[in-house]
Amino acid sequence: MPRYVRLGDLPRKHHIQFRKPDGGLYAEQLFSTRGFSGPMSTLYHINLPTEVASWEDRGSVRPQYLEEEPLRHRHLKTSRLKPCGDAVSGRIPLMGNQDVEWNQVFVADQMDYYYKNADGDECLFIHDGDGEMESLFGTIQFKKGDYLVIPRGTIYKLRFDKLPVRMLAIVSFGPIEVPKRYRNEYGQLLEHAPYTQRDIRPPSDLPVHGQRVQTQVLIRARHHHTMYTHPYHPLDVVGWDGYVFPFAFNIMDFQPITGQLHMPPPIHQTFEGQNFVVCSFCPRMLDYHPEAIAVPYNHSNIDSDEVLYYCNDKFGSRKGIEEGSITLHPLGIPHGPQPGAVEASLGAKRTEELAVMVDTFHPFKLTKESLQIEDPDYWKSWSKPAGPPMTGHAEMTGD
Ligand SMILES: [Fe+2]
Repeated sequence: MPRYVRLGDLPRKHHIQFRKPDGGLYAEQLFSTRGFSGPMSTLYHINLPTEVASWEDRGSVRPQYLEEEPLRHRHLKTSRLKPCGDAVSGRIPLMGNQDVEWNQVFVADQMDYYYKNADGDECLFIHDGDGEMESLFGTIQFKKGDYLVIPRGTIYKLRFDKLPVRMLAIVSFGPIEVPKRYRNEYGQLLEHAPYTQRDIRPPSDLPVHGQRVQTQVLIRARHHHTMYTHPYHPLDVVGWDGYVFPFAFNIMDFQPITGQLHMPPPIHQTFEGQNFVVCSFCPRMLDYHPEAIAVPYNHSNIDSDEVLYYCNDKFGSRKGIEEGSITLHPLGIPHGPQPGAVEASLGAKRTEELAVMVDTFHPFKLTKESLQIEDPDYWKSWSKPAGPPMTGHAEMTGD
């Protein structure tokens, strides 16, 4: 994140003696996500962050992808999932590739351990529910519609006010960043960006857990889980500063860019990863040219897969789609409005749609789990209906 943040107590300079009230030294840790050349933060612990009481093998978490599948448009209905597990153990991998992994979570339980993903950065999208993320860098209060962007290596735990809660867990094997075109040479967000630095919510509070009490941290690394037990509480940081930290950003703080004629998906871009982007389709005014067609034109995404997660049911023109639906429009074949949707959209002034989109530049592969919630007839939804054309204003304009 291109911004300097500091929280808690810090010594005057890096790498000098920083003493506890009892005269002992705090343990300094450099927290870097790209060697010694990328963004870094420096943390000061009460205990040695290297101290471990024991560890236990918890097995592979590598998704089993389906290879060599025939090409077709896909529709998954996450409403068919039952609440299961916590915010980590309940993750169901639905699709992924070498750059990014899409996990669906219908959280049933609170976490009773801490978690660290050393394989990748995480972008969690909280579909519904409120709560609190405790982390190595401090506490973030989160709410419905928040993205939680968590740098790899961050120790954290989610606590929800009420359960069950629906969420997405997008794991990125490269860094998740604010798009470069939104930033100036100093990293500051530019005036044309669809959100501002004030919308980014870093940790605001740093509770210090100094007690020597055995605490578990589940670590994901090399697509494998290992449960570490430390003889102290890992959130024992008295202060930190730098450019690496988790943050929250609410989808309703995204300021949609609108135009006289239809604007392409990049104007919805929220974050960028390695070979993929995350976009937010938010309620907004529609195209205002007197002859505008407010729904997108047919397009051949010959080089990217497009996945949309529908956060509400304001999608009147896309038949069969419901809140919690996921559509995958794969590279290699065109997609666009369903028959009658263009005519039905004429004169529409506003859309209330809300969706999260992930576009990838390498094909997404589905998992066996995704087939269990698939609507196998979705590819037929572009067939011309035998009956009268659709009437009324189309609400889905997005992708
Ligand atoms: Fe599209």
